[in-house]
Order: sequence, then structure tokens, then C-alpha cells
Amino acid sequence: MEEGFRNFAGRVAVITGAGSGIGRALALAAASRGMRLALLDVDMNGLEETRGLLAAHGAQPLVRRCDVSKADDVQAAADAVFAEFGNVHLLFNNAGVAVGGYSWLATADDWQWSLGVNLMGVANGIRSFVPRMIAAGEEGRVVNTASVAGFLSVPGSSVYCATKHAVVTLSECLRHELAIEGARIGVSVLCPAFAPTGIADAERNRPAGLGAKNPSAGLFDTRLRKAVESGRLTADDIARITFVGIEAGRFYILTHPKIKAAIATRMEDILEERTPTDTVPR
Ligand SMILES: NC(=O)c1ccc[n+]([C@@H]2O[C@H](COP(=O)([O-])OP(=O)(O)OC[C@H]3O[C@@H](n4cnc5c(N)ncnc54)[C@H](O)[C@@H]3O)[C@@H](O)[C@H]2O)c1
Repeated sequence: MEEGFRNFAGRVAVITGAGSGIGRALALAAASRGMRLALLDVDMNGLEETRGLLAAHGAQPLVRRCDVSKADDVQAAADAVFAEFGNVHLLFNNAGVAVGGYSWLATADDWQWSLGVNLMGVANGIRSFVPRMIAAGEEGRVVNTASVAGFLSVPGSSVYCATKHAVVTLSECLRHELAIEGARIGVSVLCPAFAPTGIADAERNRPAGLGAKNPSAGLFDTRLRKAVESGRLTADDIARITFVGIEAGRFYILTHPKIKAAIATRMEDILEERTPTDTVPR
């Protein structure tokens, strides 16, 4: 295990998708540790709500509208954050959206939107923040939110799974590269299973220009909503476990240990060259 990141007070955390769910919970957890915060989201109302909740911790975050799928937006946000705080220590690339439906009916808009937010959002965060974090020479950590969907192949979620598998390997590559460079920056990939957040209503953030939705999404929507709503861990639980992982220097942060059996089955299927097992209960 790598060295963890423990000295939070006065350090700077950037959190994308901080207007709801896990991002908001990460903001509260960071603020309770005395961190200075930059919060990014497309949802300004959500960000203002988060700002209100943070007031209890005396935190005065930099709050900014930023569409993580847009490289220019993220670069401008990074410029503003470095101008305000001088450096960034914890970078949470967390914003994400979910789409459902059969692979063969996924629309080009489904792909562009999901890859744009879930994958390019993480890539843009890395591109715009990490070079200056390396140059500053201080210890830091990049925490990318993937999902257990980054290790599994869930029927009806091929687009989502493809983006999250990509975030896992991007995070692994990033970790190796930072180690080669001798940078004092660690990496974690946060892989929760279902938790009650706004993710089942991700469509609320779909841009009008990418409006064509998979016509079979409805077949899977109810199951996704039920699974999300019945998630036993809250966003706050996930944030707490994430900070334990950050302190411990853990790369893979799997918040829901029971799901490891399904991951093991997939890994074994690959190594044994077996037909993949569908591990999703019906
Ligand atoms: N809740 C779960 O069950 C679960 C499980 C595994 C992984 N995740 C992942 O956790 C992350 C956070 O999701 P959540 O569950 O808190 O959902 P959420 O919908 O509550 O929060 C997602 C946030 O991302 C923001 N967002 C959406 N598009 C954006 C964009 N283009 N630019 C910037 N911000 C944008 C939304 O406005 C929202 O505030 C996502 O990456 C999601 O895939 C969630």
C-alpha cells in the first residue's frame, strides 16, 4: 500500500459533481477536516445547497459552474482554482451520469453524453489539474469516482459500464505514470455499488442537444431506481469510507465488500476463458 494522505487541514480539495449525492457528501467530509474547497457542477442550485450545508463547518468554498465534459470549462475552472488557492491537494473527479437500455439501441447521444461526462470529465480533470499539482511538488491525491460497474458487465448498462471500466484503467495508468515520475501524488479509484443519490434521475442533466435516449431505457429504469433507492450505504457513508481509504493510501476503494464475489467471478471467467457469468440477480 502507498503512503496515505492525512494532513487535510488548510489543504485544498476540488470536487466535481458537488451539487448532489456523493460529491456533496465528499465536500462535507472534506470541510469537516478543515479543507478549503472548490466545488464544480453544472447544477448551480445544487451547488448553492451544498454551500448552505457547508456553512455549518464555517467553510467558504469557491463555487463555480463547470461542465466537466468540456475541456475549456474545466481548464477555466482550474485556472480560477489555482489563482484562488495556489495549489490543489485532493482532486475528486466525481461527476457522473447513468443511462440504461440494450446496447444495440443505445443512441449516439447516449454515448456522447455518457462518455463526455463519465470518462472525458475525469480525463479533463487530470489534464487541467495534475500538471500543476506535480509542478507544485506537494503531496496530493487524485480520487476518480468509477463504480463497481467498472469491474462488472451489467445487462442494460453497457454504456455506463464502458465508461466506468475506462475510468478504472485510466486511474491505474495514471497511478503507474505518477510513480514513474516520482510525483508525490497518489491515486484512488472509488468504486461504490448502489447508494441513494440523484443518479437514477441523471437525465435531469442531459443537454438538450444530446436528447435522443435509448428507447429501451424504460425496461431497466425501474430496476435501477429500486436498486439505487435501496442501497444500504448513504452518500455520507461512502464519503467516510473514501476518506479512510485516502488516509490509508488505498488505490481501490470498494465501499460494498459483498460485491467482491461477483468481481471475483468475472476475473475467474477471464482467466479460465469461460463464457461470462451474469452475476446480476433478477
Ligand atoms: N449512487 C450510486 O449508486 C453510484 C454507484 C456507483 C458509482 N456512482 C458514481 O458516483 C458519482 C456521483 O454520482 P451520485 O450517485 O452522487 O449522483 P448524483 O446525480 O446525486 O450526483 C451527480 C452530480 O454530477 C453532476 N453532473 C452531471 N453532469 C455533469 C457535468 N457535465 N459536469 C459537471 N457536473 C455534472 C450533477 O449535477 C450532480 O450534482 C458518479 O460518477 C456516479 O456514476 C454512483
